[in-house]
Amino acid sequence: MQSTILIARQYGSPDVLELITHDLPPLAEGMARIKVKATGINPIDARRMTGEFKHSSLPQTFGTEFAGVIAEINSNKTLWSVGDEVLGSGTNFTHATVIDVHINNLIKKPENMSWSVAGSLAGVAQTAMTILDEIGPVQSLLVHGGSGGVGSVTIQLAKEKGIDVVATASVHNQDYIRELGATPIVYGSGLIERLKEIHPEPFDASIDLIGNEEATETSLATVKTNGFMGSIAGKKLSSSKIQAVWVKRNPANLKYVVDRVADGRFSWIVSREYPFTEVQLAYHDILEGHTKGKSVLTY
Ligand SMILES: NC(=O)c1ccc[n+]([C@@H]2O[C@H](COP(=O)([O-])OP(=O)(O)OC[C@H]3O[C@@H](n4cnc5c(N)ncnc54)[C@H](OP(=O)(O)O)[C@@H]3O)[C@@H](O)[C@H]2O)c1
Repeated sequence: MQSTILIARQYGSPDVLELITHDLPPLAEGMARIKVKATGINPIDARRMTGEFKHSSLPQTFGTEFAGVIAEINSNKTLWSVGDEVLGSGTNFTHATVIDVHINNLIKKPENMSWSVAGSLAGVAQTAMTILDEIGPVQSLLVHGGSGGVGSVTIQLAKEKGIDVVATASVHNQDYIRELGATPIVYGSGLIERLKEIHPEPFDASIDLIGNEEATETSLATVKTNGFMGSIAGKKLSSSKIQAVWVKRNPANLKYVVDRVADGRFSWIVSREYPFTEVQLAYHDILEGHTKGKSVLTY
Protein backbone atom coordinates (compact mmCIF):
# COMPACT_ATOMS: atom_id res chain seq x y z
CA MET A 1 0.00 0.00 0.00
CA GLN A 2 1.19 3.54 -0.71
CA SER A 3 0.90 6.69 1.41
CA THR A 4 1.23 10.34 0.43
CA ILE A 5 2.99 12.14 3.28
CA LEU A 6 3.57 15.81 4.12
CA ILE A 7 7.27 16.56 4.64
CA ALA A 8 9.62 19.54 4.81
CA ARG A 9 13.31 19.29 3.90
CA GLN A 10 14.11 22.69 5.42
CA TYR A 11 12.62 25.20 7.88
CA GLY A 12 10.66 28.18 6.62
CA SER A 13 7.33 29.42 5.28
CA PRO A 14 4.62 27.05 3.94
CA ASP A 15 6.55 26.97 0.64
CA VAL A 16 8.86 24.35 2.22
CA LEU A 17 5.97 21.86 2.52
CA GLU A 18 5.89 18.97 0.00
CA LEU A 19 3.67 15.94 -0.56
CA ILE A 20 5.63 12.78 -1.40
CA THR A 21 4.24 9.32 -2.18
CA HIS A 22 6.02 6.13 -1.11
CA ASP A 23 5.41 2.39 -0.58
CA LEU A 24 4.71 1.50 3.03
CA PRO A 25 6.84 -1.22 4.71
CA PRO A 26 5.12 -4.30 6.22
CA LEU A 27 2.93 -3.32 9.19
CA ALA A 28 4.77 -3.73 12.52
CA GLU A 29 3.44 -5.85 15.41
CA GLY A 30 0.84 -4.09 17.58
CA MET A 31 -0.01 -1.55 14.89
CA ALA A 32 -3.07 -0.72 12.79
CA ARG A 33 -2.82 0.76 9.28
CA ILE A 34 -5.35 3.57 8.88
CA LYS A 35 -6.80 5.19 5.76
CA VAL A 36 -7.00 8.79 6.93
CA LYS A 37 -10.22 10.78 6.51
CA ALA A 38 -9.41 13.97 8.48
CA THR A 39 -6.57 15.39 10.56
CA GLY A 40 -6.48 18.48 12.76
CA ILE A 41 -3.76 21.07 12.31
CA ASN A 42 -2.24 22.36 15.53
CA PRO A 43 -0.12 25.50 15.93
CA ILE A 44 2.80 23.24 16.89
CA ASP A 45 2.81 21.85 13.33
CA ALA A 46 3.35 25.31 11.86
CA ARG A 47 5.85 26.25 14.59
CA ARG A 48 7.87 23.11 13.72
CA MET A 49 7.68 24.07 10.03
CA THR A 50 9.21 27.51 10.72
CA GLY A 51 11.93 26.00 12.92
CA GLU A 52 10.73 27.69 16.13
CA PHE A 53 10.51 24.14 17.51
CA LYS A 54 13.10 21.61 16.36
CA HIS A 55 11.73 18.32 17.69
CA SER A 56 13.26 16.17 14.96
CA SER A 57 15.90 16.22 12.26
CA LEU A 58 15.15 17.22 8.65
CA PRO A 59 13.35 16.14 6.59
CA GLN A 60 10.50 16.29 9.11
CA THR A 61 6.90 15.06 9.05
CA PHE A 62 3.82 16.65 10.65
CA GLY A 63 0.53 16.08 12.44
CA THR A 64 -0.44 14.59 15.78
CA GLU A 65 -4.11 13.56 15.44
CA PHE A 66 -6.37 11.79 12.96
CA ALA A 67 -9.67 10.06 12.20
CA GLY A 68 -9.92 7.26 9.66
CA VAL A 69 -10.75 3.66 8.78
CA ILE A 70 -8.66 0.61 9.74
CA ALA A 71 -7.28 -1.01 6.56
CA GLU A 72 -4.99 -3.62 8.19
CA ILE A 73 -4.11 -4.84 11.69
CA ASN A 74 -1.02 -6.70 12.94
CA SER A 75 -2.11 -8.03 16.32
CA ASN A 76 -4.02 -11.07 17.48
CA LYS A 77 -4.69 -9.39 20.85
CA THR A 78 -7.13 -6.72 19.79
CA LEU A 79 -10.86 -6.16 19.57
CA TRP A 80 -10.40 -3.90 16.53
CA SER A 81 -11.32 -5.12 13.01
CA VAL A 82 -10.57 -4.00 9.46
CA GLY A 83 -13.21 -1.44 8.50
CA ASP A 84 -13.62 0.03 12.01
CA GLU A 85 -13.87 3.84 12.15
CA VAL A 86 -11.41 5.22 14.68
CA LEU A 87 -9.71 8.39 15.89
CA GLY A 88 -6.78 9.24 18.11
CA SER A 89 -3.23 10.49 18.38
CA GLY A 90 -0.72 9.36 15.77
CA THR A 91 2.32 7.27 16.58
CA ASN A 92 4.74 9.37 14.49
CA PHE A 93 2.87 11.73 12.16
CA THR A 94 -0.68 12.04 10.80
CA HIS A 95 -0.60 14.48 7.88
CA ALA A 96 -0.60 11.64 5.34
CA THR A 97 -3.17 9.60 3.41
CA VAL A 98 -2.29 6.31 5.17
CA ILE A 99 -0.66 6.04 8.63
CA ASP A 100 0.41 3.30 11.05
CA VAL A 101 -0.85 3.80 14.62
CA HIS A 102 -0.38 1.70 17.75
CA ILE A 103 -3.65 -0.09 18.57
CA ASN A 104 -3.49 1.23 22.16
CA ASN A 105 -3.89 4.78 20.79
CA LEU A 106 -7.20 4.09 19.01
CA ILE A 107 -10.66 5.01 20.20
CA LYS A 108 -13.92 4.34 18.37
CA LYS A 109 -15.29 7.20 16.27
CA PRO A 110 -18.87 7.91 17.37
CA GLU A 111 -21.25 7.09 14.51
CA ASN A 112 -22.94 10.49 14.61
CA MET A 113 -19.65 12.44 14.52
CA SER A 114 -18.37 13.90 11.24
CA TRP A 115 -14.89 12.97 10.05
CA SER A 116 -13.71 16.57 10.43
CA VAL A 117 -14.81 16.81 14.04
CA ALA A 118 -13.44 13.35 14.86
CA GLY A 119 -10.06 14.14 13.32
CA SER A 120 -9.67 17.43 15.13
CA LEU A 121 -10.12 16.51 18.78
CA ALA A 122 -7.18 14.43 20.03
CA GLY A 123 -4.63 17.20 20.56
CA VAL A 124 -6.86 19.78 22.20
CA ALA A 125 -8.82 17.24 24.25
CA GLN A 126 -5.74 15.71 25.86
CA THR A 127 -4.14 19.14 26.33
CA ALA A 128 -7.23 20.61 28.00
CA MET A 129 -7.59 17.54 30.25
CA THR A 130 -3.91 17.94 31.24
CA ILE A 131 -4.54 21.60 32.08
CA LEU A 132 -7.51 20.80 34.32
CA ASP A 133 -5.45 18.12 36.04
CA GLU A 134 -2.53 20.51 36.67
CA ILE A 135 -4.79 23.28 37.95
CA GLY A 136 -6.39 21.01 40.53
CA PRO A 137 -9.51 21.91 42.54
CA VAL A 138 -10.10 25.65 42.07
CA GLN A 139 -13.15 27.88 42.05
CA SER A 140 -12.04 30.54 39.58
CA LEU A 141 -9.87 30.46 36.44
CA LEU A 142 -8.52 33.05 34.01
CA VAL A 143 -7.89 31.72 30.47
CA HIS A 144 -5.64 33.72 28.13
CA GLY A 145 -6.76 32.92 24.56
CA GLY A 146 -10.08 31.14 25.09
CA SER A 147 -11.45 31.00 21.54
CA GLY A 148 -8.90 28.64 19.96
CA GLY A 149 -8.88 24.85 20.08
CA VAL A 150 -7.39 24.31 23.53
CA GLY A 151 -9.27 27.26 25.02
CA SER A 152 -12.67 26.06 23.77
CA VAL A 153 -12.32 22.66 25.47
CA THR A 154 -10.58 24.01 28.59
CA ILE A 155 -13.44 26.43 29.25
CA GLN A 156 -16.09 23.71 28.91
CA LEU A 157 -14.22 21.23 31.14
CA ALA A 158 -13.80 23.94 33.77
CA LYS A 159 -17.46 24.98 33.62
CA GLU A 160 -18.48 21.31 33.99
CA LYS A 161 -16.58 21.31 37.30
CA GLY A 162 -18.44 24.44 38.42
CA ILE A 163 -15.41 26.71 38.01
CA ASP A 164 -16.05 30.41 37.42
CA VAL A 165 -14.13 31.15 34.16
CA VAL A 166 -13.11 34.45 32.56
CA ALA A 167 -11.44 34.13 29.13
CA THR A 168 -9.72 36.60 26.81
CA ALA A 169 -10.37 36.74 23.05
CA SER A 170 -10.55 39.33 20.29
CA VAL A 171 -13.64 41.49 19.96
CA HIS A 172 -14.90 39.11 17.22
CA ASN A 173 -15.07 36.12 19.58
CA GLN A 174 -16.69 37.61 22.68
CA ASP A 175 -20.07 35.96 21.95
CA TYR A 176 -18.34 32.64 21.24
CA ILE A 177 -16.61 32.72 24.66
CA ARG A 178 -19.99 33.45 26.27
CA GLU A 179 -21.58 30.49 24.43
CA LEU A 180 -18.84 28.23 25.81
CA GLY A 181 -19.87 29.29 29.32
CA ALA A 182 -17.15 31.79 30.30
CA THR A 183 -17.22 35.53 30.88
CA PRO A 184 -15.47 37.10 27.87
CA ILE A 185 -13.00 39.98 27.95
CA VAL A 186 -11.10 41.55 25.06
CA TYR A 187 -7.32 41.18 25.31
CA GLY A 188 -5.14 44.26 24.81
CA SER A 189 -4.78 47.71 26.33
CA GLY A 190 -5.95 48.08 29.96
CA LEU A 191 -6.62 44.35 30.40
CA ILE A 192 -5.58 44.23 34.07
CA GLU A 193 -7.79 47.17 35.09
CA ARG A 194 -10.76 45.93 33.03
CA LEU A 195 -10.40 42.43 34.52
CA LYS A 196 -10.35 43.79 38.07
CA GLU A 197 -13.58 45.67 37.30
CA ILE A 198 -15.48 42.59 36.15
CA HIS A 199 -13.77 40.14 38.56
CA PRO A 200 -12.65 42.03 41.69
CA GLU A 201 -11.68 38.84 43.59
CA PRO A 202 -8.24 37.46 42.67
CA PHE A 203 -8.40 34.26 40.56
CA ASP A 204 -7.43 30.89 42.05
CA ALA A 205 -5.62 30.00 38.81
CA SER A 206 -4.72 31.15 35.31
CA ILE A 207 -3.71 29.32 32.15
CA ASP A 208 -1.89 31.12 29.35
CA LEU A 209 -2.46 29.69 25.86
CA ILE A 210 -0.67 32.59 24.12
CA GLY A 211 2.72 33.12 25.77
CA ASN A 212 3.04 36.89 25.52
CA GLU A 213 4.04 39.53 28.08
CA GLU A 214 0.45 40.73 28.51
CA ALA A 215 -0.66 37.27 29.65
CA THR A 216 2.27 36.98 32.09
CA GLU A 217 1.76 40.44 33.62
CA THR A 218 -2.00 39.97 33.85
CA SER A 219 -1.70 36.62 35.62
CA LEU A 220 0.81 38.05 38.10
CA ALA A 221 -1.55 40.96 38.83
CA THR A 222 -4.85 39.08 39.07
CA VAL A 223 -4.11 35.58 40.48
CA LYS A 224 -3.98 35.19 44.27
CA THR A 225 -0.65 34.58 46.02
CA ASN A 226 0.16 30.86 45.80
CA GLY A 227 -2.49 30.44 43.07
CA PHE A 228 -1.62 28.26 40.06
CA MET A 229 -0.27 30.14 37.03
CA GLY A 230 0.53 27.97 34.02
CA SER A 231 1.39 28.39 30.34
CA ILE A 232 1.11 25.81 27.57
CA ALA A 233 2.40 28.18 24.89
CA GLY A 234 5.91 26.72 25.01
CA LYS A 235 7.45 30.20 24.86
CA LYS A 236 10.14 31.82 27.00
CA LEU A 237 8.34 33.91 29.62
CA SER A 238 9.62 36.78 31.76
CA SER A 239 8.49 35.26 35.09
CA SER A 240 9.51 31.90 36.56
CA LYS A 241 6.26 31.96 38.57
CA ILE A 242 4.41 30.83 35.42
CA GLN A 243 4.75 27.05 35.23
CA ALA A 244 5.20 25.34 31.86
CA VAL A 245 2.47 22.77 31.13
CA TRP A 246 2.99 20.00 28.53
CA VAL A 247 0.30 17.73 27.17
CA LYS A 248 0.14 14.22 28.62
CA ARG A 249 -1.34 11.76 26.11
CA ASN A 250 -4.03 9.52 27.53
CA PRO A 251 -6.72 7.86 25.36
CA ALA A 252 -9.11 7.74 28.34
CA ASN A 253 -8.89 11.54 28.59
CA LEU A 254 -9.52 11.81 24.85
CA LYS A 255 -12.59 9.57 25.11
CA TYR A 256 -13.93 11.72 27.97
CA VAL A 257 -14.04 14.77 25.67
CA VAL A 258 -15.13 12.85 22.54
CA ASP A 259 -18.15 11.47 24.43
CA ARG A 260 -19.19 14.99 25.43
CA VAL A 261 -18.83 16.38 21.91
CA ALA A 262 -20.71 13.38 20.46
CA ASP A 263 -23.74 13.78 22.73
CA GLY A 264 -23.82 17.58 22.52
CA ARG A 265 -22.80 18.39 26.08
CA PHE A 266 -19.74 20.21 24.65
CA SER A 267 -19.87 22.43 21.60
CA TRP A 268 -17.04 22.17 19.08
CA ILE A 269 -16.38 24.23 15.97
CA VAL A 270 -14.32 23.21 12.96
CA SER A 271 -14.09 26.67 11.44
CA ARG A 272 -11.89 25.85 8.43
CA GLU A 273 -11.52 22.72 6.27
CA TYR A 274 -8.87 22.28 3.57
CA PRO A 275 -8.32 19.43 1.10
CA PHE A 276 -4.95 17.77 1.87
CA THR A 277 -3.65 19.12 -1.45
CA GLU A 278 -4.13 22.69 -0.09
CA VAL A 279 -2.01 22.07 2.99
CA GLN A 280 0.26 25.07 2.32
CA LEU A 281 -2.71 27.44 2.61
CA ALA A 282 -3.84 25.68 5.78
CA TYR A 283 -0.44 26.12 7.44
CA HIS A 284 -0.31 29.75 6.31
CA ASP A 285 -3.64 30.43 8.02
CA ILE A 286 -2.65 28.64 11.25
CA LEU A 287 0.42 30.88 11.54
CA GLU A 288 -1.89 33.94 11.67
CA GLY A 289 -2.90 32.77 15.19
CA HIS A 290 -6.64 33.49 15.09
CA THR A 291 -8.15 30.03 14.61
CA LYS A 292 -11.67 29.80 16.05
CA GLY A 293 -12.08 26.25 17.36
CA LYS A 294 -10.10 24.18 14.89
CA SER A 295 -8.71 23.87 11.33
CA VAL A 296 -8.80 20.48 9.62
CA LEU A 297 -7.29 18.74 6.58
CA THR A 298 -9.62 16.38 4.71
CA TYR A 299 -8.61 13.46 2.44
N1 LIG B 1 2.44 22.65 25.74
C1 LIG B 1 1.72 21.75 25.06
O1 LIG B 1 1.81 20.54 25.30
C2 LIG B 1 0.78 22.24 24.03
C3 LIG B 1 -0.26 21.44 23.56
C4 LIG B 1 -1.17 22.00 22.65
C5 LIG B 1 -1.01 23.31 22.23
N2 LIG B 1 0.06 24.03 22.67
C6 LIG B 1 0.22 25.45 22.28
O2 LIG B 1 -0.86 26.16 22.86
C7 LIG B 1 -1.17 27.31 22.08
C8 LIG B 1 -2.67 27.38 21.85
O3 LIG B 1 -3.08 26.29 21.05
P1 LIG B 1 -4.48 26.31 20.32
O4 LIG B 1 -4.58 25.04 19.57
O5 LIG B 1 -5.57 26.67 21.27
O6 LIG B 1 -4.27 27.55 19.34
P2 LIG B 1 -5.27 28.21 18.31
O7 LIG B 1 -6.40 27.28 18.06
O8 LIG B 1 -4.46 28.71 17.19
O9 LIG B 1 -5.91 29.45 19.11
C9 LIG B 1 -5.25 30.58 19.36
C10 LIG B 1 -6.27 31.60 19.92
O10 LIG B 1 -5.51 32.62 20.49
C11 LIG B 1 -6.24 33.82 20.39
N3 LIG B 1 -5.29 34.94 20.40
C12 LIG B 1 -4.49 35.38 19.39
N4 LIG B 1 -3.75 36.42 19.83
C13 LIG B 1 -4.08 36.61 21.14
C14 LIG B 1 -3.65 37.51 22.16
N5 LIG B 1 -2.72 38.44 21.91
N6 LIG B 1 -4.19 37.41 23.40
C15 LIG B 1 -5.12 36.47 23.69
N7 LIG B 1 -5.59 35.58 22.76
C16 LIG B 1 -5.06 35.67 21.51
C17 LIG B 1 -7.02 33.73 19.11
O11 LIG B 1 -8.27 34.32 19.38
P3 LIG B 1 -8.81 35.58 18.53
O12 LIG B 1 -9.00 35.09 17.11
O13 LIG B 1 -10.10 35.90 19.21
O14 LIG B 1 -7.75 36.64 18.59
C18 LIG B 1 -7.14 32.22 18.84
O15 LIG B 1 -8.47 31.79 18.97
C19 LIG B 1 -0.32 27.19 20.81
O16 LIG B 1 0.80 28.02 20.94
C20 LIG B 1 0.10 25.73 20.80
O17 LIG B 1 1.33 25.53 20.12
C21 LIG B 1 0.92 23.54 23.55
